[in-house]
Amino acid sequence: RGGYDATFRVWRGDASSGELQTFTVPVNEGEVVLDVIHRLQATQAGDLAVRWNCKAGKCGSCSAEVNGRPRLMCLTRMNTFAEDETVTVTPLRTFPVIRDLVTDVSYNYEKAAQVPAFTPRPRDPDGNHRMQQVDVDRPQEFRKCIECWLCQDTCHVIRDHEENKAAFAGPRFLIRLAELDMHPLDVVDRRDAAQQEFGLGYCNITKCCSEVCPEGIHLTDNGIIPLKERVVDRRYDPLTWLGSKIRRH
Ligand code: F3S
Repeated sequence: RGGYDATFRVWRGDASSGELQTFTVPVNEGEVVLDVIHRLQATQAGDLAVRWNCKAGKCGSCSAEVNGRPRLMCLTRMNTFAEDETVTVTPLRTFPVIRDLVTDVSYNYEKAAQVPAFTPRPRDPDGNHRMQQVDVDRPQEFRKCIECWLCQDTCHVIRDHEENKAAFAGPRFLIRLAELDMHPLDVVDRRDAAQQEFGLGYCNITKCCSEVCPEGIHLTDNGIIPLKERVVDRRYDPLTWLGSKIRRH
């Protein structure tokens, strides 16, 4: 289909207040929501604040909520909306607004800094690290994460519960812990930390995080659930429990 005029409602404001503003803006064939936001910036709202970089779904910058759904604007094609449908673009709800569509996502970087770092076992005598491909495949899925924070934005544990942020790291960092836990070279046991410092127990497996991931990572099934199982194994395995008792005396 060719060009047409779309109705866009875009949230404008800052930390203190804001409102949805309505625009009529031309759309060309093949465009995505980010193209239209850029056109608004170029023609009608020169000071509209929006974060973006690659326009190819790889940098994870242009996260926003489109008609209430957490989305990358560059991967949201305009032909998924009817021509007469109003497209509403609002900032990520889980993070404080700085201005317009730009939010303060520093919560995520604070959580990232708390994850105990990758710690490999010593190298083999010939100086190499050896891993079996089969052991690499599982954590490799989580390396696809582009840190767009859409999973963090959508998770109900923190979405409307600012008070949970201190105790819960969010799905992105639960899969980071799972990734390190599955890593064939890593020697640090992060299972107690997962439960106590990163709030693994807050996750009740609603899987909303997996649904919004632009990389198609199965956060819940392949990361969070296996990590929960490993934490439980450790706590209820009588031999492990006895071992920890004996060592303590
Ligand atoms: Fe949240 Fe994902 Fe668990 S959305 S509750 S971390 S399954």
